[in-house]
Amino acid sequence: MICRIETAIYEGILGKRIWIESDISNGLPSFNIVGLAGTSVKESHERVKSAIINSGFPYPRGRITINLFPANINKRGSHMDLPIAISLLSAEGAIDIKNLKDFAIFGELSLDGTVLPICGILPMIYGLSKNSVKKIIIPSENIEEAMLKDDIEIIPVSSLKECIDYLNGKPTAKSLYKKIIKDEDSIETIGTLDFKDVNGQIAAKRSACIAASGGHGLIMIGPPGCGKTMIAKRIPSIMPKMNIDEIIETTMIYSVAGKLNEDKKVIKERPFRMPYQGITTAGLIGGGLFPVPGEISLAHNGVLFLDEFCEFDRKVIEKIRKPIEDHEVILNRRGRTYSFPAKSTLIMATNPCPCGYRGDSKHRCKCSTSEIERYKKKLSGPILDRIDLQIYMERVEFNELTGREKQSMGSFEMKEIVLRAREFAKKRNQNTNNASLKNEEILKYCDFGKEEYEFIKKAYESFSLSPRSLMKILKVARTIADIEESKKVKIEHISEALNYRITSKAFA
Ligand SMILES: Nc1ncnc2c1ncn2[C@@H]1O[C@H](COP(=O)(O)OP(=O)(O)OP(=O)(O)O)[C@@H](O)[C@H]1O
Ligand SMILES: [Mg+2]
Repeated sequence: MICRIETAIYEGILGKRIWIESDISNGLPSFNIVGLAGTSVKESHERVKSAIINSGFPYPRGRITINLFPANINKRGSHMDLPIAISLLSAEGAIDIKNLKDFAIFGELSLDGTVLPICGILPMIYGLSKNSVKKIIIPSENIEEAMLKDDIEIIPVSSLKECIDYLNGKPTAKSLYKKIIKDEDSIETIGTLDFKDVNGQIAAKRSACIAASGGHGLIMIGPPGCGKTMIAKRIPSIMPKMNIDEIIETTMIYSVAGKLNEDKKVIKERPFRMPYQGITTAGLIGGGLFPVPGEISLAHNGVLFLDEFCEFDRKVIEKIRKPIEDHEVILNRRGRTYSFPAKSTLIMATNPCPCGYRGDSKHRCKCSTSEIERYKKKLSGPILDRIDLQIYMERVEFNELTGREKQSMGSFEMKEIVLRAREFAKKRNQNTNNASLKNEEILKYCDFGKEEYEFIKKAYESFSLSPRSLMKILKVARTIADIEESKKVKIEHISEALNYRITSKAFA
């Protein structure tokens, strides 16, 4: 008898419905899987056989053929163990076959029949729900992640036997419908690292507020030990909590990357990713035969921090140009397209030259002109052009460092500013942050008067700005006006934004 069960696979973070068919016919015992199965699917034979026998069920005798379809999609992952076992047993008559068509099933099996957690459950559930599947059996350890999708009946099972009992009508497994995580459950990053520790550096802290308010990229250029890394690590503490849609998107990425575990079953906190300088292209933007997300996608909805930016391999860095503009990574493999979201706040830090003191008022730079030229080339022009905020930092004065002069602003106060600015921007009914505005939207939302137009025109001509630079300046000006809660973008806002773009003295 032939038995068919529904399950899914994921490509990128897109879940796709597939089916598993089993047929047991007379002949010498054999086990064949057809339908573009990957190694982990082919290896399921041994796991399924032991799990069935150790759970006390008869292992079917004869020629077993497992067909995975549609046949043109590559199938991989160990989550097909449980549906394969169920389809075999139902082909054998151990389960009432009528029940099966209502369900989609996922789960890896251990040799004793325990159902183990799997990767990519959330994208697969979303993919199936588009095809109006209403009941899904999943490993019980994946329940938190699966429950991010509501309107679908989820049945968590912890063993093959429990799954069969449920399908046979014995109510051992419990079905769940309700979303168990809501907006309020997301975690604030505040409390870990606080901006209170950063004394002085008022301009850098202001630009951190602007970056967090509008989602703008920020590069900090400055001498060693002036506090660049310190500031970057504290930026997540002033960003608002993630909403439920952001939690879902971020969790999907971590799920397909295999980065969810016992301690982190759902990503509720904005990510902060700080890849090291030796990272490869695949590590940074994603890659592999079956692509997995890279750091730029793992930072989605959070912060991607490239410290000591000039030490990264140029060829690797050039690859982030497109993703930071499109907020998406697209990878093509064997005729199929995989896409991963990549919308993060990009923060970069670097010294201005090899010795680190170029442009510093207290130290003499010891670098030769050719050394400086070589170093400057490392900071690729096209990348720099895509960064909205560029600041040059200097060492803090002694009185500021010891906190004797002024109380430094902490994450709590800075976050208030960010939240107010974001709230103000929301009133314009814009559905993206300022950094992602389209050109036509920028002019609409800035609401310039005649004087402002004249001012922008003069700046465009006298600084020979690129059209991209100009648009970025206007976006930053809009965010500064939001911080000041001003409906109109005024000359003072534009001139502050200009200050963040005109290449700093150290790089001139
Ligand atoms: N503004 C500041 N307030 C308080 N401490 C500071 C400040 N700036 C630097 N420090 C101290 O100096 C240390 C080094 O700072 P940090 O690592 O951020 O420097 P950096 O600019 O990243 O240097 P490098 O260019 O060498 O990477 C910090 O751990 C902190 O103890
Ligand atoms: Mg540093």
